[in-house]
Amino acid sequence: MDDDGIIPFTTNLDPKKWATTLHKIKTPLTIIKGQLDQALRNNEPSSQQLIKELLAEVNKLVGTVNDIGQNDDNIQPLAIQKIYLNKLASFIIQKFQLTNPDLSLSLKIDGEIFIYDNEDRIYELLVNLVENACKYTDRGYVSVEIRRDKEHGLLLSVTDTGIGISKEDLPHIFETFYRSPQAKQKRAGYGMGLYIVKQIIEILHGEIEVKSTLQQGSTFLVKLPL
Ligand SMILES: Nc1ncnc2c1ncn2[C@@H]1O[C@H](COP(=O)(O)OP(=O)(O)OP(=O)(O)O)[C@@H](O)[C@H]1O
Ligand SMILES: [Mg+2]
Repeated sequence: MDDDGIIPFTTNLDPKKWATTLHKIKTPLTIIKGQLDQALRNNEPSSQQLIKELLAEVNKLVGTVNDIGQNDDNIQPLAIQKIYLNKLASFIIQKFQLTNPDLSLSLKIDGEIFIYDNEDRIYELLVNLVENACKYTDRGYVSVEIRRDKEHGLLLSVTDTGIGISKEDLPHIFETFYRSPQAKQKRAGYGMGLYIVKQIIEILHGEIEVKSTLQQGSTFLVKLPL
């Protein structure tokens, strides 16, 4: 804020930054909607846990909206925390199972695995991959697997039995606004999720590999140094 109490606002935001912001707003809203729909369907009395989880998503929205129009230099550095991946990944699986009742979502994780990083950032990485896996899969399963590997550090994979990605599209899916013809036909989107994923992986000095077969499914494998 400046001396007049006015929050400085940049009007000439570039389209990539806008699309990233809109994408960040859309995901918590989808989760909130899923939880509210489920609570209404089951006639659940409001519980402390539900309120707590909804509040966490609302706080993310407030943070994202507050960052709109800020110069990157004004944005607070991210806090580094101890992240229990078992808890984080099972939370994500549970939320996406609510919004995708026709799919079978599962998590396989080797014992208790934790890393030190910013929790919102790791959440965003995982959510984007799980969101895509669910969005582009009509039937079958989505499975998340997390394990430690002596050679590669942390291995995190998301596999689905969905529409798959053609050889022609594969080299482009991490580009901003890129969407395959099959994806466009199926669902709406900005073509920003994987660009955000790639940026996070670059910050963490990791790698991402994709194996996919059209009409059969895809696996996104993330390798992060530990
Ligand atoms: N699991 C998947 N199965 C099939 N295609 C996928 C999958 N994940 C990504 N893609 C392809 O990669 C493209 C880019 O994905 P990305 O997440 O960046 O954008 P999006 O899902 O189209 O939109 P959004 O910005 O809302 O996430 C998708 O449009 C789709 O063509
Ligand atoms: Mg996406």
